[in-house]
Amino acid sequence: MSNLTALARRIDTKNEQWISATKRRLADLSVFSEAQLEWLSMEHYQFSAANKGFLERAIEATSDLCNPGVATELTRNLHEEDGHAPMYKRGMLEVGTDFDRRVEFRPTTEFLATLERLSSDPGSRALGTLYATETAAIFEHEVFFEICREICHRRNAPWEGTTIKAFHDLHLDGGVEQSHKDGLSVFLTACTPPNGSGLRPLDEDEIYEGAIAAIDAMKHWWTLLIDAVSHSEPHWKATEPSTPILDTRA
Ligand SMILES: [Fe+2]
Ligand SMILES: [Fe+2]
Repeated sequence: MSNLTALARRIDTKNEQWISATKRRLADLSVFSEAQLEWLSMEHYQFSAANKGFLERAIEATSDLCNPGVATELTRNLHEEDGHAPMYKRGMLEVGTDFDRRVEFRPTTEFLATLERLSSDPGSRALGTLYATETAAIFEHEVFFEICREICHRRNAPWEGTTIKAFHDLHLDGGVEQSHKDGLSVFLTACTPPNGSGLRPLDEDEIYEGAIAAIDAMKHWWTLLIDAVSHSEPHWKATEPSTPILDTRA
């Protein structure tokens, strides 16, 4: 979207800094083992599975903003997410990864707790948080499209025609995540409620603060995830060997 508000551009610039640094660390997947790549997908699934809860909290937190369009757009986003996390889980199970075998990684638990809190912050802050996370979701699908394809390649499993490829295609080529970002971006501008309405203003400083807090949390989590697989820490070894690949193409 070319006519982004100045605030949306400021937030995008901040997001882009850590996203491009993280992409560089994941540019060469050949340095990671299949188990390490699988572990990354398991941790990312936790965010995917928690996302509807964050949207529900943000809808509640933005319901008294002077522009009711924010909560309406978040509700549209919530409905669109319906069934996505189960599709991710089913798609990876079909190619031999059972997300239920995951062992807890504390930084992910802490990251999700932080996002839950930020999504619940009043009005403008929750909007900033969700705008930042929906923007980063585009990058996540780009990265996990490659990671999931690499996992399938290492297993001699099919990629074309799989549920997991369809899942990432839906979010990238299908434009789901871009539409979530664009849909929220139009509200990133100040708005003052009528006197006595009891509604909250849209405050640009607060939107920015909410976005930066979410960006800091995502940057920190991603650093710990990639450090964990780069330094051979034991988290990714904690799971059992891959489950058999299911043939669902009959
Ligand atoms: Fe989704
Ligand atoms: Fe989204």
